[in-house]
Amino acid sequence: MERSFVMIKPDGVERGLIGEIIKRFETHKLRIVAMKMLRPERGLVEKHYEMHKGKDFYELLVDYISNKPVVAMVLEGNDAVTKIREIVGATDPAEARKGTIRGDLGIDSMEKATKEGRAINNLVHASGSKEEAEFEIGLWFKAEEIVR
Ligand code: RTP
Ligand code: MG
Repeated sequence: MERSFVMIKPDGVERGLIGEIIKRFETHKLRIVAMKMLRPERGLVEKHYEMHKGKDFYELLVDYISNKPVVAMVLEGNDAVTKIREIVGATDPAEARKGTIRGDLGIDSMEKATKEGRAINNLVHASGSKEEAEFEIGLWFKAEEIVR
């Protein structure tokens, strides 16, 4: 069984979409094996997004997430990494397909975010590969916090 890391970002929490987002994963046979709500400190968010270090949106991205309420979780299921990315949809909510979390519930766009000098608010993070998933699960959770 494959595992992936998902985070409901501050805009998802603020807009009251935690239940709606979790429901979409559970409906698709993904099982929650770890979950916590926290305000991640800046150092954790910097490590989480270290693959983007040096890109022009990196600092904005770290600002968007740091010290704000988020829900972090580990989901388990067949082909979890790919399946979750499909359920989440494209990075830019304006481009994300209908039926995806970002496509149905997202209200921001790359154009608006760029104009306003901030990261795209797109409700959820999901690991992009199995390697990213392993790294992120280890970063956000202790082994004993994974409940199975
Ligand atoms: P994520 O890692 O959060 O699941 O998103 P992703 O794979 O779909 O997109 P990625 O390229 O990894 O970008 C990470 C997050 O950075 C923000 N972003 N803002 N203003 C901008 O140009 C910009 N570009 C990226 C988004 O929040 C994106 O999800
Ligand atoms: Mg990514």
